[in-house]
Amino acid sequence: MSSSDQTEKKRYFEPAPQDIDVENFKKVLKSRRSVRKFTDKAIPAEILDDCLDLALLAPNSSNLQPWTFYVVQSAAKKKQLVKACLSQLAATTASELIVCVARTDRIDEMAKKNISEFPFPQAPDAVKKYYRFIPYNYKTGYFNALGNFKKVAFKMARQFNKQLPVSAFNPADAKLWASKTTALACENLVLALRAHGFDSCMMEGFDEPLVSQILALGEQQYPVMVIAAGERATDGVFFPQYRFDRDLFIQKV
Ligand SMILES: Cc1cc2nc3c(=O)[nH]c(=O)nc-3n(C[C@H](O)[C@H](O)[C@H](O)COP(=O)(O)O)c2cc1C
Repeated sequence: MSSSDQTEKKRYFEPAPQDIDVENFKKVLKSRRSVRKFTDKAIPAEILDDCLDLALLAPNSSNLQPWTFYVVQSAAKKKQLVKACLSQLAATTASELIVCVARTDRIDEMAKKNISEFPFPQAPDAVKKYYRFIPYNYKTGYFNALGNFKKVAFKMARQFNKQLPVSAFNPADAKLWASKTTALACENLVLALRAHGFDSCMMEGFDEPLVSQILALGEQQYPVMVIAAGERATDGVFFPQYRFDRDLFIQKV
C-alpha cells in the first residue's frame, strides 16, 4: 500500500445501479394522470405504506424533512375533508385522502436528529457544525426578529460580492421553503401509487383554514395539497394529456 493510500481519507461509496428499466420508468411517469373518478377498490394497507415510505425518500432541503402526511381514514374526518375539498369528484370517490403538510415548526428537532441519527457511528464534525448553523437559515424568529436581522446582514454581505444561499427572511419564505420540498415528496407518492397500479389526483382546490381545522394543525403547519388516491375508474380520466411546445419551457443558455 502506498503512503498516499494510507493517508487518503476513507470515503463512503454507493454504486449507482445500471440495470434500471427505463421503459418501465417512463411507463410509470407517462401513465400517471390526474384521475377524477375512482372505483370502490381499496388500496391494500401494505401498498399504501410502501408508497408513503417511497414519498419520504424524496430529496429535501438539508435533509430536514419538513413534512407530515396525514392519511385520513376516520369516516367522520374523511367526510369533513371531502367537504373541505369542495366535494370534488376525485375526493368523493377516492378510497384514500392524504393531506400533505409542509411544516416549519420542527426545524430544530430535525437538525438535532441529523446529528444523532447520522448513519456513521459518529457524525463528522463538519456535519455537527452544519446542523448547528442551518436552522438559523430557515427560521425567522419571534416577531420575525431573526428574519429582519438576516435581511440586513445579507444586504451588507452582498455589497462585498459574497454569494449567499436561499434563506427565509419572513414566515412566507419559510413556508415556501418547506412547501417546495413537500411537493417533491408528493410527486414521489403519486408515482409510487402508479407503479403499484393505483392512481391519484393532487388537489389544491380545498379550503385551507378548514383543512387545518379538521386536522388541528399548528400555526407553522401548512397543507400544501390533498392527494386523492384509489383505483382509476374506466371513465376516471377526462381527456388526453397535453403539454405545450417544449421550447416554451426549456432554454439552453
Ligand atoms: C398543485 C396541484 C394542484 C392541483 N389541484 C387540483 C384540484 O384541486 N383538482 C383537480 O381536479 N386537479 C388538480 N390538479 C391536477 C391538474 O389539474 C393536472 O395535473 C393538470 O391539469 C395536468 O394533467 P395531468 O396531471 O393528467 O397530466 C392539481 C395539480 C397540482 C400539481
